[in-house]
Amino acid sequence: MKLAIIGAGNVGGALGTAWAQKAGHEIFFGVRDPKSDKTQSLLRAIGPKARAGTPAEAAASADIVVLATPWPAAEAAIRSMGNLKGKILLDSTNPLAMGPDGLGLEIGHGISAGEKVQGWAAGASVFKTLNTTGFGNMANPVFKGVKSVMFVAGDDAANKPKVIDLVGQLGFEVVDAGPLRNARLLEPHAMLWIDLALKRGLGRDWAFALVTR
Ligand SMILES: NC(=O)c1ccc[n+]([C@@H]2O[C@H](COP(=O)([O-])OP(=O)(O)OC[C@H]3O[C@@H](n4cnc5c(N)ncnc54)[C@H](OP(=O)(O)O)[C@@H]3O)[C@@H](O)[C@H]2O)c1
Repeated sequence: MKLAIIGAGNVGGALGTAWAQKAGHEIFFGVRDPKSDKTQSLLRAIGPKARAGTPAEAAASADIVVLATPWPAAEAAIRSMGNLKGKILLDSTNPLAMGPDGLGLEIGHGISAGEKVQGWAAGASVFKTLNTTGFGNMANPVFKGVKSVMFVAGDDAANKPKVIDLVGQLGFEVVDAGPLRNARLLEPHAMLWIDLALKRGLGRDWAFALVTR
C-alpha cells in the first residue's frame, strides 16, 4: 500500500519505519524540507521503501495520508497538501499548548483537534488514531506478549475496517472508538498518557491495554 506521512519527526518516523519494515508499505514523507539531514537520515534508515517530497506530492501519491505534525502546524500542513477529496486522513495530533499548569490541551469537550482537522481537510475522510501513546510504543506496541490498545474514531464506516487493519499491522490491539466526535474523548486520554509519562514518573515505556472478562 502507498502511504503518505506528513511530518517526519518522532511519530512520522516511527510509523513510517514500522509500516515499511513490518508490513512492506511504501512510505512517502511530506515535509517542508525533504533534503534536510534529519529526513535524509530517516530515509537511509528505512531503505528503498521510503522517499520524501512536499506535502502536496506525498498526499497526491497515496490514498491514505497520516498527519503527524505539531498541532500549531496542522492547519498549514493540511492546506499545503492541496486537494484531499476522497483521501483517508489519519489524524495523530494532540492539541497541546502550555498553560498555567504546564502542558495541557488547548481545546476539548466542545470540539476536538480531529473535528477541526476534518473541517480543514475538505472532502477527506478523517479518522482520529495513533494519538494516545508515545512514539516509542508505535514502534513496539507489544509488552511482554500483551498488545497495547489503540483506538480509531471516524465517521466513514466503509473505510473504517481498512484503517483498523492498517493500525493493527503495527502490532496494536485496535478498538473502534465510534464517530469522529469521540476524538473529544481520545485527546484527553492522550493527555492522561502524557501527564503520567512526563509528570508522574512513569516515563515513556508503558502503554494502556484493554482487558476483558
Ligand atoms: N511524540 C509522541 O510521542 C506523540 C504521540 C502521539 C501523538 N503525538 C502527536 O503527533 C504529532 C507529531 O509529534 P512529534 O513528536 O512527531 O513531533 P516532531 O518530532 O516535532 O515532528 C513534527 C514533524 O512535523 C513537521 N512539520 C512541522 N510543520 C510542518 C508543515 N507545515 N508541513 C509539513 N511538516 C511539518 C516537522 O518538520 P520540520 O523539521 O520541518 O519542522 C517534523 O518533521 C503532534 O501533534 C503530537 O501531539 C505525538
